[in-house]
Amino acid sequence: MDNLNNRTHSLFTTTISGDIGGEPTILGQNLTGVATSQSLSWIVGSLWLGRELKSKKTEEAIDLSLRLLVDHGPYVSGAVNTMITARAGRDLVSSLVAGLLTIGPRFGGAVNGAAKVWFESLGVDPQTLVEDFAKRKEYIPGVGHRKYRLDAPDPRVSLLADLIQDIPHPHLDFARAVEKLTTVKKPNLILNVDGTLAAVMLDLLSYEEHLTKEELATLIESEFFNAIFVLSRSVGLIGHYLDQTRLGEPLFRLPDQDVFTPN
Ligand code: ACO
Repeated sequence: MDNLNNRTHSLFTTTISGDIGGEPTILGQNLTGVATSQSLSWIVGSLWLGRELKSKKTEEAIDLSLRLLVDHGPYVSGAVNTMITARAGRDLVSSLVAGLLTIGPRFGGAVNGAAKVWFESLGVDPQTLVEDFAKRKEYIPGVGHRKYRLDAPDPRVSLLADLIQDIPHPHLDFARAVEKLTTVKKPNLILNVDGTLAAVMLDLLSYEEHLTKEELATLIESEFFNAIFVLSRSVGLIGHYLDQTRLGEPLFRLPDQDVFTPN
């Protein structure tokens, strides 16, 4: 209570880290001890939740997600932006940020939107959800892919989903029920990796980390669910920046034939 009262006299309030007598700390423990005894994924999950992870399964899911989402080739929006920026002679951070700025509702950043839909619509008839989105002419976040389809599934999706088969997984079941309906409309309207990660994390946070509904709603509000993609893909984007620099690639300019100019 004292600490909370003191808050009015401080410029910042923090609950996750500090420095005690020159020793960096996280969550009240010496960072050196944590760094030598815990995995990076445990540190990521614990720092982001503001308390130690309770479950090995959550740690495993964060670890697998970070590894699975690290890169998806040079074709995708984020990598293209990073490569173009690197080829324009810009520095590491500028090139990284240029790529990160493409993360949003259509690319990579649909994890949070999907989490919001699965969380808020759990219990709703999936058919009603699909029809409501169609009526509003809105895309269901976490559904659809340019490349993957029912008969050419994304291999990352089953790996993530398999992780939680032995715990209650109503969010994943709900997302799959939605996918059953959307893929009847079009075979590429599959539950994509963003939508799967959102459902898997919701189930883990609910049944392994025992977060309340209010805590989950706050995490959705603050975009927690996109953070895993952002962190993981940063590794790939830095890779593309270093690759372009190492190759000495010149300034990029679109060839005329790749730009359509009416008239
Ligand atoms: N929900 C409902 N309908 C959809 C959805 C969706 N999520 N996505 C596409 N459709 C429909 C379109 O309305 C269109 O219907 P129409 O032919 O009757 O007009 C049809 O499916 C094809 O749509 P396109 O826009 O051509 O599909 P495209 O391949 O361009 O889009 C994309 C793929 C961008 C992923 C899209 O499905 C989408 O925005 N999904 C939601 C956001 C999302 O989950 N993004 C993450 C993708 S995975 C990743 O980034 C790692």
